[in-house]
Amino acid sequence: VQGQEYPVAAVERPDVRLPRRPRDAHKGDFGRVYILGGSMGLSGAPVMAAQAAVRSGAGLVSVGVPGQVWPIAAAKLDEAMVHPLPSGKEGMLELGAAMAVLERLPSFGVCLVGPGLGRSNTVGTVVRNLLQETKLPVILDADGINALGGHIDILDRRGCCTILTPHDVEFARIGGDLSHGDRLRAAREFAVEHGCCLVLKGHRTITAFPDGTAYVNTTGNPGMAKGGSGDVLGGILASLLAQGFTPREAAPMAVYLHGMAGDLCAAELGEYGMTPTDMIRRLPEVMKLAG
Ligand code: APR
Ligand code: MG
Repeated sequence: VQGQEYPVAAVERPDVRLPRRPRDAHKGDFGRVYILGGSMGLSGAPVMAAQAAVRSGAGLVSVGVPGQVWPIAAAKLDEAMVHPLPSGKEGMLELGAAMAVLERLPSFGVCLVGPGLGRSNTVGTVVRNLLQETKLPVILDADGINALGGHIDILDRRGCCTILTPHDVEFARIGGDLSHGDRLRAAREFAVEHGCCLVLKGHRTITAFPDGTAYVNTTGNPGMAKGGSGDVLGGILASLLAQGFTPREAAPMAVYLHGMAGDLCAAELGEYGMTPTDMIRRLPEVMKLAG
């Protein structure tokens, strides 16, 4: 990897437009998203991801949460289905959750793993089992990334689409090297080495692919530096993938649209008071502008 030159596309507006929907379409045409997340004290994260997935056009959204979190998540979500999974210590997933999720996954188009999952050895095992057993495109975010721990070789072996969406700290935990201060280079090196798509979040989020190509995002603002913003991105990305966009199309586009929602909020509400939920509320307008 070192010394190699890769092409960079500095994205002003990703190359993808939302297609007009066929008049006779039904929900099956717009994909099914499965979101695995939540734990006691982190019930809002999978809820925000699910709401963002619905608001960006997915046909059907299902959420799997630990049983102890189920009453909270189910009460908050109207459009998404919410399934209780085996839960134990601190309202986190138990080992049996892996099989329960794997049984459901075949009817879905994409799986987002991580929002609010919490961190434990068991959660790590569940997430790694899923990654090994499913051929579905998987987005790993937050504690889904932390669950990899030192088992980064799982990515190398999956041989199908894995998209990781770490912030800098999560990236460092899975061996990402930011010591030289060059985020673009770090993201590309990781994506090339592990054959995955890497979305390195922050100001000017980098999206990098296994062939070394990368996008630098131009939307977004510091009003988005607030707990929950990342969960919204995970939901948008899962939704676009379920709707049939390729990872190469969906990842930079999701990042761009997510930032656009943030920019609409900043203009209307200001960077101090805006919230990730406000961003979800502006998604319809963002999707309309992208159409
Ligand atoms: N400019 C543009 N975009 C920004 C800026 C900025 N200055 N600051 C943050 N963002 C965007 C990022 O690009 C990213 O898309 O906001 C989002 C923040 O996502 P995360 O870093 O994942 O933050 P958060 O939503 O709080 O994550 C929830 O999961 O990742 C864990 O430890 C994390 O507890 C936290 C939880
Ligand atoms: Mg996060």
